Amino acid sequence: MIPRASSWRSIVSKARRTPPAAPIDAGGPPPEDRGAFVRREASLIDLKTKRVLVTGGAGFVGSAVVERLRGRGCPAESIAVPRRSDFDLVHEADVRRMYERHRPHVVIHLAALVGGIAANRARPGSFFYENMMMGAMLMEYARQAGVEKFVAIGTICAYPKFTPVPFREEDLWSGYPEETNAPYGLAKKMLLVQSQAYRAQYGFNAIYLLPVNLYGPRDSFDPQSSHVIPALIRKFLEAVERGDPAVEVWGTGRATREFLYVDDAAEGIVSAAERYDGVEPVNLGAGFEISIKDLAELIARLTGFTGRLTWNASQPDGQPRRCLDTSRAAALFGFKATTPFEEGLRRTIEWYRSARLRATPT
Ligand SMILES: NC(=O)c1ccc[n+]([C@@H]2O[C@H](COP(=O)([O-])OP(=O)(O)OC[C@H]3O[C@@H](n4cnc5c(N)ncnc54)[C@H](OP(=O)(O)O)[C@@H]3O)[C@@H](O)[C@H]2O)c1
Repeated sequence: MIPRASSWRSIVSKARRTPPAAPIDAGGPPPEDRGAFVRREASLIDLKTKRVLVTGGAGFVGSAVVERLRGRGCPAESIAVPRRSDFDLVHEADVRRMYERHRPHVVIHLAALVGGIAANRARPGSFFYENMMMGAMLMEYARQAGVEKFVAIGTICAYPKFTPVPFREEDLWSGYPEETNAPYGLAKKMLLVQSQAYRAQYGFNAIYLLPVNLYGPRDSFDPQSSHVIPALIRKFLEAVERGDPAVEVWGTGRATREFLYVDDAAEGIVSAAERYDGVEPVNLGAGFEISIKDLAELIARLTGFTGRLTWNASQPDGQPRRCLDTSRAAALFGFKATTPFEEGLRRTIEWYRSARLRATPT
């Protein structure tokens, strides 16, 4: 476990007595001025009174965000969830048509081509092109349509490969991302540049959030595209069913990761939509770090797998370490993850077990 860099209370109190924020072309204030950004809590947007459009709103994260919006009292008819089958957001005409149809006040842009290491390695061109085009056009047409607030969702894959841990937003531009996910990470990072440029030139209210690796119910468990947690849950459950003596895991097990439960991420995104207006990118994380070896052993225990784990070191580890400094989100809009990791894993395993049962013909 990595200790917290500093308590958010000290950052808030420091922020209250400090001068204005850094210029917009940086990822925020330099490290020595950590906490020196102005606490820019927006006047609370009452989402209940707005038409909110959630691109990717039927996906893993999107469905959790839609649930949160409903929990905030947003009427179902005020939340638009455009599906790819109706609006392919890689195509300009569809983006334009979508804004004409839904006329949103607030946009939460979650639609993306998403996947784990295998999918990113197999299709780096698609990961770059689709995410880049969607982001650029979604924000441009939102601006033209007079959207009041645009929440752009980035990714931790935008961070340089060797970012000092815990990752601080100031370090976003200090190097090239880990190669296997660089096309995806950089395409999504352009949303940050676009938000800052549009705020400077047009006064457009766009914010940029960087969620860490997410997990939880409704995640993809497809072996072709899944991330590490669903991939391991599936492997171990299937091994238990077959009575396999061993399970192979990719990489050396030495890389570390941080994971945020999807409902916590959704709360962070909705809170930022309500309360944060600013140029600085903001991490959304849980603030802890676990090695893939420890993670695999934990999931083995929770799924009841008692066999051996073998490590396939010929497969890539991906980025060596990942753990976010989450103090900015706490200071700017009071976000703190609340779901204990083991509890989140149990709920995810339970959800997948039930989903498989539902999918099995009787
Ligand atoms: N999962 C993570 O660990 C994680 C971590 C950090 C950030 N994020 C970000 O969170 C967002 C959501 O990710 P997710 O994990 O929820 O992915 P997901 O379950 O695959 O959902 C992505 C959604 O995007 C929509 N979409 C994809 N291509 C589209 C297109 N060309 N036109 C219209 N819609 C399209 C899909 O809509 P349909 O359902 O209609 O096909 C899908 O529901 C992404 O921006 C991702 O970068 C995710």
